[in-house]
Amino acid sequence: MKWCVLMGSPRKEGNTAALLGPFLEECGALGVEAEVIWLYDRNISPCLGCMACQDVVDRLGCVQKDGFAAVFQSMADCGLILLATPIYSFFCTAPMKALLDRAIYAGVKNYGREKGPKLLGEALRWGAELEAVIAAPGVSLPELPRGVRVVEVPDGLLASIADTETPQGVVFVCRGKPLALPSALEGGRYLILDGVQDPGNVGTIWRAADAFGAEGLILCNGCADPWNPKTVRATMGACFRLPVYEVEEEALPGLLERSGLRLYATALREDAIDIRTAGLERCAIVIGSEGRGISPQLLALSEKAIKIPMRERCESLNAAAAAAVILWEMAR
Ligand SMILES: Cc1cc2nc3c(=O)[nH]c(=O)nc-3n(C[C@H](O)[C@H](O)[C@H](O)COP(=O)(O)O)c2cc1C
Repeated sequence: MKWCVLMGSPRKEGNTAALLGPFLEECGALGVEAEVIWLYDRNISPCLGCMACQDVVDRLGCVQKDGFAAVFQSMADCGLILLATPIYSFFCTAPMKALLDRAIYAGVKNYGREKGPKLLGEALRWGAELEAVIAAPGVSLPELPRGVRVVEVPDGLLASIADTETPQGVVFVCRGKPLALPSALEGGRYLILDGVQDPGNVGTIWRAADAFGAEGLILCNGCADPWNPKTVRATMGACFRLPVYEVEEEALPGLLERSGLRLYATALREDAIDIRTAGLERCAIVIGSEGRGISPQLLALSEKAIKIPMRERCESLNAAAAAAVILWEMAR
């Protein structure tokens, strides 16, 4: 096992070094490898209090590029951290204080604007009905409604339940809002995804649709499950705010007619018109699947084919990138 000694004295032969000597000898006798890091030799700036590290869950996330990252890595890799510091004016020395401020904030991601893991916060905020929360020890949870079952499990067990490599310390089960398809859709901005199978794409498009003011998302022809954990994570909470409807292709023409919505398709047909001149008031726009584009039936039903102008040498955009451009154009 490796130990990490953070040396906070500026004096190479001072009292702290003298006290540390026998300690290191004992480590050697016990076969413990001890790495001594002299903090006055490193360039460690004080914490800026910007909170940027709180928005990054799977990495350090600190915006300052100095000697901190290397020391943080040593702290993360060791089995024990020893603070060897003189007392200066009732507390540890300046580089030690700077290091602790930054290491504690970067290592614990619960100081941000959101209290607790982000997606759980969004679920609570937007009224999803929580059933159970499974958390790793030490994870700070937001205030939960009464009756929600909370279970604490070891990190390893949580990692085996979660399907991400770097879970945020929480897995939860909730019911989304009931989404029965209305006989007519409200509002004038919808995206229809035609067989988009990548859950990350569906979630990213859902998030963008929410951001740019669409009224909802319609999935048809075998899109990824909107409640697949990957889809849900990619929505960053939009799944709790913006309705998604799964609709059979045959039911679409009637639904759109009753809703007073025109149907447009993004396609590279001869007659496709530039999206900037298309006039996108009160319409639903179809985005095709990654592999096969838009189904011939939906294309035939579409009043207009529209295209996003781009360099000729590029054939197409990723479905989520195309959706973002379309949504932006619809919102303008
Ligand atoms: C600026 C300064 C402030 C200090 N403040 C305190 C203090 O508040 N309390 C204390 O017990 N010792 C204080 N000390 C004494 C040091 O902690 C003490 O001399 C220590 O042994 C120095 O360690 P070093 O020899 O490794 O540099 C202070 C020393 C300095 C230089």
